[in-house]
Amino acid sequence: MINEAHGADIYTAAEKLGTDKDKIIDFSSNINPLGMPEAVKEAAINSISHSDKYPDINSRELTRSISMAENVPENWVFTSNGAAESIFRIVYYLKPKKGLVTAPAFSEYENALKSAGAQAVYYNLEEEHDFKIKDDILNRINTETEIVFICNPNNPTGQLTNKEISEKIISRCRQAGAFAVIDECFLDFSENKEKYSVVNLLEKYDNLIVLKAFTKIYAIPGIRLGYCMASNEKLIEGLKLSGPPWNVSAIAQSAGVAALNEKEYAVKTVEYINKQRKYLIEELNKLNIMTYNSHANYILFKIHANIDLKEEMLKKGILIRSCSNYMNLDNSYYRIAVKTDEENRLLINALKEIKGMQ
Ligand SMILES: Cc1ncc(COP(=O)(O)O)c(C=O)c1O
Repeated sequence: MINEAHGADIYTAAEKLGTDKDKIIDFSSNINPLGMPEAVKEAAINSISHSDKYPDINSRELTRSISMAENVPENWVFTSNGAAESIFRIVYYLKPKKGLVTAPAFSEYENALKSAGAQAVYYNLEEEHDFKIKDDILNRINTETEIVFICNPNNPTGQLTNKEISEKIISRCRQAGAFAVIDECFLDFSENKEKYSVVNLLEKYDNLIVLKAFTKIYAIPGIRLGYCMASNEKLIEGLKLSGPPWNVSAIAQSAGVAALNEKEYAVKTVEYINKQRKYLIEELNKLNIMTYNSHANYILFKIHANIDLKEEMLKKGILIRSCSNYMNLDNSYYRIAVKTDEENRLLINALKEIKGMQ
């Protein structure tokens, strides 16, 4: 069993509490609190009646919609069963011997590398520097490095990497003969995302792969839909052949097309997240909890009390993410999602009730 590897495990939490999974308030997974747009839900439901047929093996309509939304050619797009599938396909196709990942970061980069027999090496992000990537990462990219993963904004820190540093990394990777994978799965939750996105560098760098997810911003993690983009068309073709066909269900394809018609949704989401994140950070700080500067829909924090806060919160029906299994963090760090106003208030009140937190 995959245990405690990620947030979102309301199933284990419900078993533990002997309650229904829908009764758990899940702050451990970072999903848009505004929920699934109505049109997306409708498209997914309607597609059930076509599900007695195989889905389009090439996800044509969805790929066309992504190409228009991202302003990239259709043959630069690979659609996947969640962004996680893209990560594994990239590694399985490229077969690197060594990959560089930041620590902490989303654990599936190192899991994909290890499962493909590659060595994962780490660039430690320093708490004293707000977990920011600095120029010295360039010294870690050499001819032995075959792939580099950068998460922007980073999970779990919420920290952004500016485009200048990203481009230096991509360029150094090119010199070293390595691919750079920039994971922008949470960038839609950040303000001024154009300042940080490297999608418009795809044309310039054929060693660049940009990763995106529908799961988070359109709140469809259960439907599973993600994609990656690269101007290296050989790589995109290779990804298609590096796993089973029909990897994106008819339901996911329809939901994705409908989602991309929701032009105002991301704008509304960013406004909501900004306001709620500010509220949560202020309240956490009042409780003497150390927070880090997040630009995403989640907050990393550190407690000084010698308690298992995840267990304590679970007793109150609230699931939070312990960060003890992230590289370079320990059991004093936790991550919470920014959820609805009502849920955020419940979380703060629950924290106030926990002995030893004050
Ligand atoms: C940074 C990051 N990238 C990718 C993924 C995978 O997302 P998906 O659910 O679309 O597979 C996650 C999931 O939590 C994530 O945190």
